[in-house]
Amino acid sequence: MSDSKFVVIDGSETEYREGETVLHAARRLGIEIPTLCHDDRLEPAGACRICLVEVEGSRLMQPACAFRTAPGMVVRTNTTRVDRNRQFIISLHLADTVADRDEAEDVSISRLHEYTEKYGVAEGEWQHVGSPREGRPDDENPFIAFRADRCIVCAACVRYCDEVEGVSAITLANRGGRTTIATADLRSLDHTTCEMCGGCIAVCPTGAMTEKPALFYGKPERELEKVRSTCNFCGVGCQIDINVDRNANRIVKVTSPPPGTTVNDGNLCVKGRFANDFVHHPDRLTVPLVRETDGRLREASWDEALERAVRGLQGVKETHGVDSLAFISSSRCTGEENYLLQKLARAGFGTQNIHQCAAT
Ligand code: SF4
Ligand code: SF4
Ligand code: FES
Repeated sequence: MSDSKFVVIDGSETEYREGETVLHAARRLGIEIPTLCHDDRLEPAGACRICLVEVEGSRLMQPACAFRTAPGMVVRTNTTRVDRNRQFIISLHLADTVADRDEAEDVSISRLHEYTEKYGVAEGEWQHVGSPREGRPDDENPFIAFRADRCIVCAACVRYCDEVEGVSAITLANRGGRTTIATADLRSLDHTTCEMCGGCIAVCPTGAMTEKPALFYGKPERELEKVRSTCNFCGVGCQIDINVDRNANRIVKVTSPPPGTTVNDGNLCVKGRFANDFVHHPDRLTVPLVRETDGRLREASWDEALERAVRGLQGVKETHGVDSLAFISSSRCTGEENYLLQKLARAGFGTQNIHQCAAT
């Protein structure tokens, strides 16, 4: 073993860290290596081969996403041989998937097609043969579409479902060129262990896994504006990117910020990712309502509604005693909102009867 405490990548030194891959050491130096099958939340698989780099002393190029650094290791990521490999791998993936970028990016951004431009893979450098893979276009689940003709069989979706979500609802099926993503017995995802978290969509580098509602809407992700927000379904505080069609003033879909950037590390649950149709629902309450003496509800100002609530609560306290009151907050409240409600209960009304339905 070398005495050096460093790894050298493209002539720059970085401190050797035990167990670190070439990809992560390169990132610390600000050196970008393209990846398709890699995701920081998954065990390295080395499946797509776009990240191959030269390692001094090794005859074969090595996958940066899976190859661990060693003290004194010298790596090159920007040689002609590395470039040619990237172009070759991209053309192989394009040969049996949708080759036209506009068509491939009909609704989702495809990293594969971004790389096609970035690494200068010219049309005609590969022969487009089309996909021999099959999917289940008739899968009636409401949220997730799998489009086999865009799949490069990197298995990131399968690994996410297994390693992160822990439900193994999808798997690789068939052999050779017909290898595809499927469920047991080719059931609809609805009838599997799938929790509709949509993580398989988030890790897919080609848009083969995609959101069905956005597919029906039909507007490319590139033309949507991402608005960072906090999911309001529970108090965890997951960060979400709301993809908005500004012209139509509509939410088209919700995506997760990249792993490693927010508290939820790129993960979402079914509610955060898909349950956003209430926003545009015609029955949604957008103004306070108060009940008239004849039982009818009518619109009111916030001042009037709050004043009515205070009067009602005080009336109950005066008539029946403070312990006839109980305050229960919604699981959609944040920690700060729960704090305020217990303050209202304890300091405002003098009762300890306070609970939150998710007990957070
Ligand atoms: S939505 Fe989640 S649980 Fe369902 S197949 Fe995809 S990763 Fe697995
Ligand atoms: S659907 Fe996407 S993530 Fe899954 S294997 Fe195909 S390209 Fe990879
Ligand atoms: S990103 Fe390294 S092999 Fe796929």
